[in-house]
Amino acid sequence: MKEMQDRDLLRQAVAARAFAYSPYSGYQVGAALLCEDGTVYTGCNVENISYGGTICAERTAVVKAVSEGRQKFVKIAVSVSGEEPGIPCGLCLQFLSEFVDSEFILICGNCRDEYTVYSFKEILPAVFRSAAVHKAGE
Ligand code: THU
Repeated sequence: MKEMQDRDLLRQAVAARAFAYSPYSGYQVGAALLCEDGTVYTGCNVENISYGGTICAERTAVVKAVSEGRQKFVKIAVSVSGEEPGIPCGLCLQFLSEFVDSEFILICGNCRDEYTVYSFKEILPAVFRSAAVHKAGE
């Protein structure tokens, strides 16, 4: 199977951005997550009047994938309605870190579909991983 190109994945993130529910910020975000088996899960940001209940586009995509049995991810594309490229927030990076390794690729696009590509290790070089946690009974 031909590896999905960054541009194709970004196009899917742009399409997902159209579904954003963001009446409070007015900022639309779409994400497209490529799994190891070639499946793509998309997501958008879904805001809530409680503000804290808001879920980002990236986590929407991860939750969709995991809840349908996928846990191995290759790349994510993010598309935002603003001029600056869509860099996932710290919470989304932490959330992704549960399932990705340092070579995972992030394609971060802006409203004009210009994008910057990062590896996970570039974007979050020092990450809090489960190995750091001392578990009771060990
Ligand atoms: N947002 C995302 O969807 N992804 C990010 O990584 C950053 C922020 C959303 C959350 C909220 O709906 C809006 O963008 C403004 O923060």
